Amino acid sequence: MSNNEKYDLEIGEEGLDYDLLDRSFNPTTQAFILKSGIKSGMNVLDVGCGSGVMTTWLAKQVGPQGTVTAIDNSEEQLNLTVRRLKKDNISNVKTKVLSAYDIEQLNEKFDLIYCRFVLHHLHSPRKTLKLFFENLNRQGIYIGEEGIISAAFAYPPSFAWQGYMPELKSHEEEKDGIARDSDIGMKLLFLSQKTGFDIIDSSLVQPIFWKKEQKIGLLDGLKSYKKTDLSHGTTEEEWQRKYNETERIVNDENQVIAFYGSCQVAAVKNK
Ligand SMILES: C[S@@+](CC[C@H](N)C(=O)[O-])C[C@H]1O[C@@H](n2cnc3c(N)ncnc32)[C@H](O)[C@@H]1O
Repeated sequence: MSNNEKYDLEIGEEGLDYDLLDRSFNPTTQAFILKSGIKSGMNVLDVGCGSGVMTTWLAKQVGPQGTVTAIDNSEEQLNLTVRRLKKDNISNVKTKVLSAYDIEQLNEKFDLIYCRFVLHHLHSPRKTLKLFFENLNRQGIYIGEEGIISAAFAYPPSFAWQGYMPELKSHEEEKDGIARDSDIGMKLLFLSQKTGFDIIDSSLVQPIFWKKEQKIGLLDGLKSYKKTDLSHGTTEEEWQRKYNETERIVNDENQVIAFYGSCQVAAVKNK
């Protein structure tokens, strides 16, 4: 399936490092994957591998008898992953510039498909989950983790981090192919079941940033999202106000930010 969706974050030539995501979520993601059944020797697909930090970790878990295939539709991003793999001396990873919508082109079935913070950027997450189901072996495991952006908040409250109300829509109105759903995390368990998976486990994670070194990463996030924000009707002045307010919060030790919520789902293909 080809598509002309545009990714919401600006990726430079060097790729984005996604350091904030790695620092905030890797410990809980890794604990969740370990308890959901990753084993040495597995054939794993990492969809939207980003900077490759989790790819390296997955490769170590499956060991020399196992393989990880890491895909990302951004060449710059995949190059960053390739550089990391080389630096870490990891040799059981295959990499390919490929969209999540095109995984059948790999002509392979996987024991585990891992995909974090990618479906909430796609216009057709339901279609993608179906592809995950179809490209898993029987008893294969899907491990997904997706954002609930509306869950973010600041305390004391601040207009820059009050999030927004999730759209109140019925299931029938929730369709693929319209726009990205930045709250897909809250629906992930339900959508996985609808795809045909049986749920193994599910959990909610929401990091709190209270130290300057934790909060400062949010500024780069606002910058990479700026173009998309302006294209959604935010004016340059409004964006700048939000940025300045976040900068103030970063430097205020009496102000915390609860980052996006993140829903983890582990599910098995029994049929
Ligand atoms: C927010 S990052 C998450 C990266 C990584 N999974 C993580 O958790 O750190 C989203 C990644 O998905 C990639 N991406 C966006 N749309 C994609 C698509 N249609 N197919 C494959 N990758 C995609 C982006 O290039 C980016 O690397």
